[in-house]
Amino acid sequence: MPDPLFADPRLAALYDLVEGERPDLDAYEAMVDELGARSIVDLGCGTGTLACRLAGRRLTVRAVDPAVASLAVAAAKPGAERVEWIRGGPEAIPAGRADLVLMTGNVAQVFVTDAEWEACLGHVAAGLTAGGRVGFETRVPGARVWEAWTRAHTERTIDTGAGGAVTVWCDLLDVAPPYVSFRWSHRFERDGTLVTSDSTLRFRDLDELRGSLDAAGFTVDDVRDAPDRPGLEYVVVASLSP
Ligand SMILES: C[S@@+](CC[C@H](N)C(=O)[O-])C[C@H]1O[C@@H](n2cnc3c(N)ncnc32)[C@H](O)[C@@H]1O
Repeated sequence: MPDPLFADPRLAALYDLVEGERPDLDAYEAMVDELGARSIVDLGCGTGTLACRLAGRRLTVRAVDPAVASLAVAAAKPGAERVEWIRGGPEAIPAGRADLVLMTGNVAQVFVTDAEWEACLGHVAAGLTAGGRVGFETRVPGARVWEAWTRAHTERTIDTGAGGAVTVWCDLLDVAPPYVSFRWSHRFERDGTLVTSDSTLRFRDLDELRGSLDAAGFTVDDVRDAPDRPGLEYVVVASLSP
């Protein structure tokens, strides 16, 4: 079950406003060019910003997410008609058709247990053509970014236009490495309604990432920095081993 942040229509409608311009996605567009990918799966596509950007470039794009409310936001975007939207998790990736599977926005961290992550990588591998690749990011545990996931660091009020102002903030609930739990709160100023969403993410170090990819039949080609978040992310590119 995806968190309410993505699955509650009131919160899914806020996601793009909270996230803003998305310079993080530029590196993934560049990765598509660099790898010469023509058939792409955006796993955990959320509100579909990357998928719509890629589909505008006449690539074959399938976008997969279990959160119906986020997919509904995605489907209303320009270019959405050129994307194949698929409701589900990694198991819903069509077999053997993609030359690149991407996971942006730290989607890899939602697979909290070893079993979930191993299954995810297995489904990603099954979705790829021979020699296909996976590209994903995950936060560097040692950077301890969660220390800034507090109300003092995160509170802000967003103008949603017709929906009025919404004040959002994050509270850190629990740090028990490799797990970090936090709550996003959203106060709809028009009537004071408070909607919260609790999440737990898994932080994996490089050894763990390499080991799990190896076990799933991948060779790690590269581990990069995220240009917009230097030192905070591992951006991993791995290819299906022959
Ligand atoms: C932080 S959002 C990132 C969305 C998008 N990739 C982006 O960059 O904006 C995490 C996404 O992971 C999705 N998600 C949660 N559980 C999932 C699962 N089992 N399989 C695939 N996606 C999942 C959520 O619904 C949500 O859309």
